[in-house]
Amino acid sequence: MTSELQVNLSEKVVALTGGGGVLCGAIARALGKRGAGVALLDVDEDAAAKVARDIRSEGGLAIAIECDVLDKNQLISAAARVEERLGPVDVLINGAGGNRAEATTSAQASFFELSEDAVRSVFELNFLGAFLACQVFGKKMAEHRQGHIINISSMTAIRPLTRVPAYCAAKAALNSLTQWLAVHLNQNYSQDIRVNAIAPGFFLTEQNRYLLSDKDTGKLSPRGGAIISHTPMGRFGSPEDLVGTVLWLLSDSSSFVNGIVVAVDGGFSAFGGV
Ligand SMILES: NC(=O)c1ccc[n+]([C@@H]2O[C@H](COP(=O)([O-])OP(=O)(O)OC[C@H]3O[C@@H](n4cnc5c(N)ncnc54)[C@H](O)[C@@H]3O)[C@@H](O)[C@H]2O)c1
Repeated sequence: MTSELQVNLSEKVVALTGGGGVLCGAIARALGKRGAGVALLDVDEDAAAKVARDIRSEGGLAIAIECDVLDKNQLISAAARVEERLGPVDVLINGAGGNRAEATTSAQASFFELSEDAVRSVFELNFLGAFLACQVFGKKMAEHRQGHIINISSMTAIRPLTRVPAYCAAKAALNSLTQWLAVHLNQNYSQDIRVNAIAPGFFLTEQNRYLLSDKDTGKLSPRGGAIISHTPMGRFGSPEDLVGTVLWLLSDSSSFVNGIVVAVDGGFSAFGGV
């Protein structure tokens, strides 16, 4: 039996970076359905616009803004547009992120030859992009003395995976930032600001499909099979699996929860393999 946490978000404004993507798109749709005003910031404007249209077609309030999280000026103007259109931002969800094939070791590319540019770009996207968004939106939260930031980390931050060194390290840095910023904002600005992270396990999406399944047959790759056999719950996550955790973090039920990383991974990070 699934019973759903009842959360009224009708007075809330939520900005999501990477809002056009699979996971944040699903989170945004769920928040829009519960009455939040939703701003989807994404470098891929079409993807963000599609999620915004979906939310509006179900009676919700949503806007899409083209924004590169690695460009602070774009973040500043996006934040101003969100405030103008929807009001002050209560919640920032940092979801822009992902790995790159060029920063992944393989038979063709050993660790020793991984491209410095690719490693830097993965680190920047997953760490610096969230850092800059926290600066821009966090400053407003500090001024309003309330707010909540949720960083979308990864289970790979807790248990580094083979082949994706930059991605694991960047997400580990993001976990550290989550803790650091939770303390910093409370100590210096307001005890009504929270910063938490969610560490999803394996969700089959476009960014990892080429690693987890065969592109021609769709069958699990050896890596995909290894993941399933190391996931006690025996399946990949579905985007909706994250929604309950986001709703809980945004609800009053979690009002004393701050500076934590919630693993949503079917038990992967708890399993030692034997
Ligand atoms: N899919 C998984 O299994 C999984 C597991 C753990 C963590 N995550 C994390 O969850 C988040 C969402 O992943 P997803 O699977 O939905 O991926 P996705 O590729 O569907 O979504 C990522 C979105 O970020 C956007 N983006 C990329 N670069 C950007 C930039 N510079 N500025 C603004 N937007 C940018 C993309 O256009 C895309 O819409 C990522 O941070 C990812 O690392 C995913």
